[in-house]
Amino acid sequence: MKKFYVTTPIYYPNDIPHIGHAYTTIAADILARWHKLLGENVRFLTGTDEHGKKIQTAAEKQKKSPKEFVDNLIPKFKDAWKKLNISYDRFIRTTDKDHEKKVQEILQKVYDKGDIYLGKYEGYYCTGCEAYYTEKDLTGGCCPIHKTKIEKLKEPSYFFRLGKYQKKLLELYKKNPEFISPIFRKKEIINRIEEGLQDLSISRTSFDWGVPMPFDKKHICYVWFDALINYVSGADGFWPADVHLIGKDIIWFHTVYWPAMLISAGIEVPKKVFAHGWWTFDKEKISKSRGKVINVDELISIAGVDAARYFLFRETSFGEDGDFSEKVLIDRYNNELADKLGNLVSRVAALAEKYGLEKAITHTHRENSQNKLLKKLKLKQIEESFNELKIDKALNEIFSFIDACNEYVQNKKPWETHDKKILYELADSIKAIGILLWPFIPETAEKIAKQFGFEICYKQIKEPLKIKKIKKEEILFKKV
Ligand code: MSP
Repeated sequence: MKKFYVTTPIYYPNDIPHIGHAYTTIAADILARWHKLLGENVRFLTGTDEHGKKIQTAAEKQKKSPKEFVDNLIPKFKDAWKKLNISYDRFIRTTDKDHEKKVQEILQKVYDKGDIYLGKYEGYYCTGCEAYYTEKDLTGGCCPIHKTKIEKLKEPSYFFRLGKYQKKLLELYKKNPEFISPIFRKKEIINRIEEGLQDLSISRTSFDWGVPMPFDKKHICYVWFDALINYVSGADGFWPADVHLIGKDIIWFHTVYWPAMLISAGIEVPKKVFAHGWWTFDKEKISKSRGKVINVDELISIAGVDAARYFLFRETSFGEDGDFSEKVLIDRYNNELADKLGNLVSRVAALAEKYGLEKAITHTHRENSQNKLLKKLKLKQIEESFNELKIDKALNEIFSFIDACNEYVQNKKPWETHDKKILYELADSIKAIGILLWPFIPETAEKIAKQFGFEICYKQIKEPLKIKKIKKEEILFKKV
């Protein structure tokens, strides 16, 4: 059986999850469900990144131990994912014992290979980013991202021989042209590598919230070295990952540090790293301090879970930046989910209940190839879009077909003709729509499946709908 392994970044549990976290997690869920639909053996991993100075400092502010602090926030993440119908297989925490063991195992391997040496780090570090900066990266002495004063470190540290992997990384991108996706993000990474790769400081002695280096317990492993390994510790036999979904801000860690670490440890590299864009909120950068943040509960409260899932992948193309606006979400909900999809389903159900259905397909035809309407569905394009991770394109294609179905109703006027064959074609097409929408809006898709009596499985798209009594049910989307 074909396997598919997808991951999200593991999030810092220093606050409750917001739209940025939800975006990657829903994207991974859409991909996981799509591959399940195809009958593949799927693994979907998400979780939290719990070590490091950033978490330790946040805990200190609340006068809690780091573990106590994160233990309080984890249920918020799990709860958010439950509300959003996220079908992950494991929620990994970097404080999980099996993960910590894996980190030490990999550190030891890399050390034994001679790729780790003791030195002294002298330079800048932003705890907010959990990242190192050079003098020329800073803006007015401040972190380029957080605009806060930056720490200058001077302490003994173990280094990973990242510089040694410069050539190997460039070879990897060449041999595997989609390793960095979308392609337009690749050039920047290559340019930066070509400028020269410094060895990476991977341990600290000035705090203790993390995994101790197995060969020198006074040193605590750098949080990114620790975190990236989650993808392997949580793989459960599925490694290498088919795709790591991430935001564009963390592409360097995933396409440079991570493959170098793996090559050094003698572990296969993932097949692809896909970086999506960032959401702004009413055209402004999402920022908690300026109240420009939308958390998961707020997102869902606007028009429901499926509206949120739908909006995020309908509004912008996956890979590009997007702007979140409550008004636009509501407009799309009313005009597209309610007026296009909801109306189609309720109209056809009402007419089918009143006049009945008649299969236009004889029992000699095992496929519903005689459904003329269904011929307008571009399944090949949808499959291709999913293969290229153009999730928004796949969704657009499904909605073009919904438009085609609505036109068909308009043109054929079954409420005048009472034509049972036309109604059958429509119901059979709604089956295809329901199946294809399941990855995006599972709750709605399951309601449609129940109402029209079909199973959510890709093969069923081609199987004629078994005639069953269809009843008008409560409408799918009440207008907001
Ligand atoms: N802990 C690291 C990831 C380690 S993975 C081995 C981390 N965590 S994070 O919580 O800060 O961010 C997680 C993800 O949220 C990143 O992929 C980031 O791009 C994403 N987003 C944060 N704000 C975002 C938006 N405004 N829009 C879209 N995604 C954003 O980084």
